[in-house]
Amino acid sequence: MVKKNNTYQGGAEEFKGFIRLSSNENNYGPANSVIKTIKKNINHSNIYPEINSQSLAKQIAVFNKIPNENVIVGAGSDEILQMIFHALTKPGDLVMHTKYSFAMYEIFAKAFNCKSVIYDDSSFQFTLKDFKKKYSSKVKVIFLANPNNPTGSIFYRKELLEFIKSINKNTFIVLDAAYSEYIEDSLYSDGLEFVKKYNNIIVTKSFSKIFGLGGLRVGWGYAHINTIKKLYQVKKPFNVNRLASEAAIESLKSKSWLKKQSKLNQMNKNFFIKGLNNTKFEIIDTLANFILIRFRSEKMTNQFSLFAKKHKITLRVLSSYGLKNYIRVTIGTAQEMQIAMKVFNKF
Ligand SMILES: Cc1ncc(COP(=O)(O)O)c(C=O)c1O
Repeated sequence: MVKKNNTYQGGAEEFKGFIRLSSNENNYGPANSVIKTIKKNINHSNIYPEINSQSLAKQIAVFNKIPNENVIVGAGSDEILQMIFHALTKPGDLVMHTKYSFAMYEIFAKAFNCKSVIYDDSSFQFTLKDFKKKYSSKVKVIFLANPNNPTGSIFYRKELLEFIKSINKNTFIVLDAAYSEYIEDSLYSDGLEFVKKYNNIIVTKSFSKIFGLGGLRVGWGYAHINTIKKLYQVKKPFNVNRLASEAAIESLKSKSWLKKQSKLNQMNKNFFIKGLNNTKFEIIDTLANFILIRFRSEKMTNQFSLFAKKHKITLRVLSSYGLKNYIRVTIGTAQEMQIAMKVFNKF
């Protein structure tokens, strides 16, 4: 068999019999009503989905109080990122992101022959003023995950707005808000509010995290109509399948379910962090659905990962990100975190 080398190193693929804390999924799964919808729609699997996921785009627009025509739906927000590279960059263009940002920015940059301008965020949290020092108006697209995976760095409305104002209007700013639903602070902004006024902003969002639909692949983007038109030019027809699209529509129907997921995440995370008493690692908390733990050596990091796996827990070793002494731990269900806490303390 030909070995397929994927540049992106994903989390563990095991899930049966494992506690999965490796891919920042919502381990409570989708809402019951969503599962019912998926089951109901299986019978229509012979029928192509809508060509542009129009019904879903409409519901996304209603849910977020934004205009429908400015929304584009993808098979995961990954696909929107790919469309951004495909439609808005040409070989040799500069794109900018941080060193420890979501891996796909750099992977797509390489695939589309762009050059990455990299801001070193070794301190994890950084200021946009500092970030800006590396920027020049030659940069075609800036990618900023807010909050960021895997470091958890986060920016609030005021700082973000000042940054947006300071950037040349010919540079696109992609605000990747894959984890935004976990942030309840009113000073935080997922960036949607900036799109109307600033033509160069593109916000991307995901159904893979809090909505619990990672396995179905749905995400979306929101931008000025001219940008959306360009993205449509590179979008494949029928890119989001029928089950995914119907599930996403259903998952937008209950705001209280969504709020509950965010509360559960906070509760389970606080419980987990409070209960960890192993001095072999340090904890770095984030406001999203994951934390980081830092070990003194790479060897111990790998030993810990194996130890957890032996106890049927999958974690994300961050060596592929260049963070050799770090492991990312997704916050799972209350029961899962109780087990994980005991295992972690035993190491
Ligand atoms: C910051 C960030 N952006 C985008 C994505 C892609 O998510 P998806 O393609 O599942 O919507 C992820 C997934 O882990 C992420 O962490």
